[in-house]
Order: sequence, then structure tokens, then C-alpha cells
Amino acid sequence: MKHLLAAADLSPTEIRFLLDAAKKMAPVLRREKEEGKTVTIPILSGKTIVNLFFENSTRTKLSFEVAIRKLGASALNFASSTSSVTKGETLIDTAKNIEAMGPHAIVVRHSSAGSPQFLAKNVSVPVVNAGDGFHEHPTQGLLDLYTMEEKLGTVAGKRVVILGDIAHSRVARSNIHLLRKMGASVAVCAPPTLLPPVPETLGVDYAYRPEELLGDADVVMALRIQLERQNRMQLPSLQEYSAFWGLSRERAKLLKPGCIILHPGPVNRGVELDTEVADGPRSVILDQVFNGVLIRMAVLATVIDRPSLEKWMQGA
Ligand code: CP
Repeated sequence: MKHLLAAADLSPTEIRFLLDAAKKMAPVLRREKEEGKTVTIPILSGKTIVNLFFENSTRTKLSFEVAIRKLGASALNFASSTSSVTKGETLIDTAKNIEAMGPHAIVVRHSSAGSPQFLAKNVSVPVVNAGDGFHEHPTQGLLDLYTMEEKLGTVAGKRVVILGDIAHSRVARSNIHLLRKMGASVAVCAPPTLLPPVPETLGVDYAYRPEELLGDADVVMALRIQLERQNRMQLPSLQEYSAFWGLSRERAKLLKPGCIILHPGPVNRGVELDTEVADGPRSVILDQVFNGVLIRMAVLATVIDRPSLEKWMQGA
């Protein structure tokens, strides 16, 4: 694994390795949280990693930054809005110039699907995809999978319902690849305009109404409406979406005991999730955020220095 470009590229063995590495790191970070002490797992001590973000982010950007620090490395943070991209510099020139400064990996988020693959062909350092258009968000998919396993033990044989803007969601695509590879049964639900034109191409079950799926779910993942990726609004209104597809308090009553609720964030409260549901006992949204740091540590250590990671795992 030189790069992490897409969940579609990962074998079940590679997925399991990344989940196991994250799991080994969890007690160390949890101890830090409980005891308030700063800890590091200095597998990447002395290394430099560039966060190349051409799209806005809160969770992904900051959790990569935390992961980099926890691994003993230094983060160089790039935001396109304050860079020479505003003067017309291209993605490839930007990346080549950054590469000339000698980083050990590049983490990239870009609105164009395929940008990480393009970079990986043109730079010599590992590239990690932090979200490319509506294509993939592999570290989000991995942290979601990790969170489901943490709460349910395994995803094999479990029913995962992904509810929301499937057509424009890179999170849905990465989750579908990973969940199917790890033996989950996946169904998606959205208004017809927010599903791909031929939903069968996703390789999962689908329904247009949540009521058809919620009662059997072990996991419900609600997704944000990606207005920034739609040429024009694909719905009459957000109120209409909320009324028919939102996970409201009433609709959440259909869920069976033990069913957990995920959301990749940012949450539009009152649209895809009611506040009571987002903050309720089934919600594992903040666990997803904590686990995101673990997964990103595991991914960076794997692509930059897997032998040192494996040595650390043996001693942990
Ligand atoms: N889940 C996610 O990608 O959130 P951000 O856009 O805040 O990074």
C-alpha cells in the first residue's frame, strides 16, 4: 500500500490491517483523554506531512493534523484560499512545488474526482485521499467501519442502511465498498433524484422510503444533502426532504433496540437528523470523530513506514 486513494482498491486483508492498527492505538489515545496527559506514538518521528486542502473541512483536516502530531511528525497545512492557487497556479504545479520541499506524504482533498490518483501518478511520495469530489472518502469509510465494529463487534451479516444524498456522496461510495468487502448487507435510501440514475450499479439494495428499511437496520448512516455538488436543487425544498426522509424522533421509533446512528458530519440539524436523534443514546457521531484520528494515524503510518508500525504493533 504505497498510497490510499480509494476504498475500492483495498483488499479485506488490507482493511483488517488498518483496523487492527487503529485498535492497537486506541488505548493510548483513550488514556490521554482520560488522564489529560499528552501522548505520542512516535512511529513517524522527524517526518513531514502536507495537508493539501482545496475544499473546506473541519473534521478531516483537523483529525489528520492531530494524527500527524500524535505520530511525532510535523504537519504543513495548505488552504487553497490563501495560496497561490488564487493567482492561477495549477494542482500539478502546486503539488510539484510542495514535493520539492521534501515532505514524506501528501494528504489531498479536492472537488474534482480523481485528483488524488492524478497526484499519485505525478509525485514520488505517498498520497492519501481526504475526499475527492463525489468519488471517494476512504478514511471516512474506514473510520465508519471501525466505529461499527467497535459498537457491534462485527459488520459481517449486519444490515447497514445509508439514508440521504447517495448520488453525490463520496462517503456512501467508500462505505459501500468497505462494508460489502467485510460481509455487511447494505441498503441505500433516498428520493429518486438523490440516487444514481441506475441504483443497481451500486451493488446494494435500495428503497425510496425509509419506512421500508429502518425496522431491519443494525446501523443507520444519515448523510447531508450535498448542495455544493448539485447544479440545481434536486428537491422541492429541504423541509420536504426532512418531512419524508429525515431521521426524526418519530421515524427513529421504528429502529430496533441496539441499532446505532452514524453521520459523517457536518450535520444539518432538523434536515437529515432531528437534534434529539443526533444527540440521543443511539448516536455515535462523536465516537466517529475520535476514531477518525486513530484511522488516520494507522493510514499515515502504513503508507509512510509500515515496518516501524508493525514493530510498534508487536510491542503494544
Ligand atoms: N466528514 C467530513 O469529511 O467532514 P469535514 O468536511 O468537516 O472534513
